[in-house]
Amino acid sequence: MSDFPHIEYPISIPYQLRVYFTKHAFDVKNPLFRDLACSKESGNRRKVLIYVDEAVSQANPSLADQISAYFDRYSEDLRLMGVETLQGGESLKNDENCLHRIYGDIESRKICRHSYIVAIGGGALLDTVGFAAATAHRGIRHFRFPTTTLGQADAGVGVKNGVNYNRKKNFVGAFAPPFAVVNDFSFLETLPDMHLRNGYIEAIKVALIRDEKFFDWIEANAQALNRFEPAAMQEIIHRCAEHHVAHIATSGDPFEMGSVRPLDFGHWAAHKLEQLSEFALSHGEAVAIGIAIDTLYSEEMGYLDKDCSNRILSLLKRLNFETYSDQLERRNERGYPYVLEGLEEFREHLGGLLTITLLKRIGSRFEVHEMDTDVVLKSMNRLKELI
Ligand SMILES: NC(=O)c1ccc[n+]([C@@H]2O[C@H](COP(=O)([O-])OP(=O)(O)OC[C@H]3O[C@@H](n4cnc5c(N)ncnc54)[C@H](O)[C@@H]3O)[C@@H](O)[C@H]2O)c1
Ligand SMILES: [Zn+2]
Repeated sequence: MSDFPHIEYPISIPYQLRVYFTKHAFDVKNPLFRDLACSKESGNRRKVLIYVDEAVSQANPSLADQISAYFDRYSEDLRLMGVETLQGGESLKNDENCLHRIYGDIESRKICRHSYIVAIGGGALLDTVGFAAATAHRGIRHFRFPTTTLGQADAGVGVKNGVNYNRKKNFVGAFAPPFAVVNDFSFLETLPDMHLRNGYIEAIKVALIRDEKFFDWIEANAQALNRFEPAAMQEIIHRCAEHHVAHIATSGDPFEMGSVRPLDFGHWAAHKLEQLSEFALSHGEAVAIGIAIDTLYSEEMGYLDKDCSNRILSLLKRLNFETYSDQLERRNERGYPYVLEGLEEFREHLGGLLTITLLKRIGSRFEVHEMDTDVVLKSMNRLKELI
C-alpha cells in the first residue's frame, strides 16, 4: 500500500424496483403513467420522449393518437417531446447506427436528466433504448413498457440494458434500473404465438432454480398456457416477474459484480446458439434448448435424478418448445463444436471464474466452475435422439 493517506467514503444509492400491471395504459382514463411520472420521487420531471417498437405500432395503428390524446389530457403535468418508432427485434441490438439515432433525438429534443425516456416494445427494444437512456447525459430516467411475454416476465423487469457488439450478445451495456416498469397486458393481444410462448421459458427457468411449486403450477396449467388463455398468461408473467425482481433485490448482487448468475441458467449455450443461428433462433427458443442441455447434463453428472429431468423435458415438449437445433452440430476448422465456445464467452462476459448454474432438484440449484465437455456433447446427443 502507499505511504500516502488515502480517502474512502461509502456511497449507497437507493433504487426502487417498481413493476406495475395494467391494461390500456394510454387510455386517457388510466392515470397510472401520469401518477408515476409525477410522483413524489419524480423530482418535477415533465418532458417525455417515447420510443415504440414498429411491430407494436403497426399492430396498434391508433397508439400514436392515443398517446397524443393522453398527453393532451395531462398537459398540465407532462410534455410530449416526440413519439419515435424503431424496428424491434434482435436486429436493433445488432445495428450500430441505432444508438446514434437515439442520441441524436435526445440532443435535438433537448431531453435532459430532468426528463423521461419511455420504451414500448419487446426485450430487444427495451435493452437498446434503456442503454441509450443510461448513457446519454450519463443517465436519463427511463420507463419500460414491455410488450412481449418475455419482456413482461423477465427482460423488461430487470436492471440490465445493452446492445450486441460484433454479434456478441449484450457485449456493450449498463446496469441502470428503470424508473418504473409498466406491464400492460393489452399489448400481448397482438403478439404472435411464437413470441407469446417465448416468455414461458424464462418462467420455467426461474421455477427450476427457485420455486418447485411454481413449476408444479406451470405443469398443471400447461393446457391453458398452450391456449394462451389471458388469466394463465397474466399469472405466469406476474409470478415470473416477482421472482426476477425479488432475486435482483435480495441476492446481494444486483449489478452482478460476483460470478454467480442463477438467472442465467441455460443461457451459456442459448446466447451462443442465437449468435450461431444469426439470430434466426429467438432468445426464448434458444433458452429452451440451453435449459434442456443443462438439465440432461445435471442428470448425466448424477446431480439430478432421472424423474426430475424427464419431468422438465416433458414440460418443454408439452409447451411446444424444440429442445434441439442443427446449430449444435456446427464445428470450427479444428473440428471443435462451436457451441462449446459459448462456455468461454460466457466466462469472459462475466469475468473471473467460469460459473454455471445446474440443478439438484426442481426448484433447487447449485453452481459449478467447470463443465465436462464430453458430457455436454453426450447430453446434446441424447436431445438429438429425442427429436
Ligand atoms: N435486459 C435483460 O435483463 C434481458 C433479459 C432477458 C432477455 N433480454 C433480451 O430480450 C430480447 C428478447 O426479447 P423478446 O423476447 O421480447 O423479443 P423481441 O424484442 O425480439 O421481440 C420479438 C418480436 O416481436 C415484435 N413485437 C414486440 N411486441 C409486439 C406486440 N405486442 N405485438 C406484435 N409484435 C410485437 C418485435 O418487433 C419483434 O419482432 C433479447 O435481445 C434478449 O437478449 C434481456
Ligand atoms: Zn433470458
